[in-house]
Amino acid sequence: MIIAIDGPAASGKGTIAKQIASVYGLHHLDTGLLYRAVAKAVLDAGHSPDDAAQATAAAVALDPKQFDEKALKAKAITEASSVVAAIPQVREALINYQRAFATKPPGAVLDGRDIGTVIAPGADVKLFVVATPEVRAKRRALELRRRGDDADEQEVLDDLLRRDERDAKRTAAPLSQAPDAHLLDTTTLSVDAAFRAAIKIIEDVRSRRKRG
Ligand code: CDP
Repeated sequence: MIIAIDGPAASGKGTIAKQIASVYGLHHLDTGLLYRAVAKAVLDAGHSPDDAAQATAAAVALDPKQFDEKALKAKAITEASSVVAAIPQVREALINYQRAFATKPPGAVLDGRDIGTVIAPGADVKLFVVATPEVRAKRRALELRRRGDDADEQEVLDDLLRRDERDAKRTAAPLSQAPDAHLLDTTTLSVDAAFRAAIKIIEDVRSRRKRG
């Protein structure tokens, strides 16, 4: 079973993906970490994130087993991750790893921007998770503060909107809802309610498939 979860920045897709993977006993890949790791490698080496040659070399050399999730989620990496993610050769270099991960038995949940459209277009269930920018900014600011990063809500909101625009407007695998993806709006939902809504969508799709 492959479950694809896409959506804009800080929409709650990561939290939902983790919970679903745990309930169904599936592997989970937060694909944003791949782009964040490329951005960190480029910045650490003193290059600019829009340097396509350096970013591509970093993507080719990436070792996803070495990820330090806490460092990759830091504010300093976030903006640069959406800059490297717009470089087609960077995306190309990361496709095989993601597709191999998706087909690992017994199945996987992948969350990102292009899982249902490019990485796993044949996924069994696709969710597109959204929430209003203000709610997303509030949640992300809380999350950053919990991790000890300082977070100004207006600054976080500006970052989300800037990244959403860059992610949606790029030519290579832009952020978009696959035609067969189920929209899940988490604006007014608690973490638990969002999780239950996701499970309901998945179970409905599975029972419809069994019947059909
Ligand atoms: O957690 P948040 O939603 O803020 O971001 P993320 O999922 O960690 O992704 C960071 C950046 O990586 C995004 O702004 C996208 O530019 C890029 N990304 C992408 O292009 N494709 C993916 N499948 C996942 C992330």
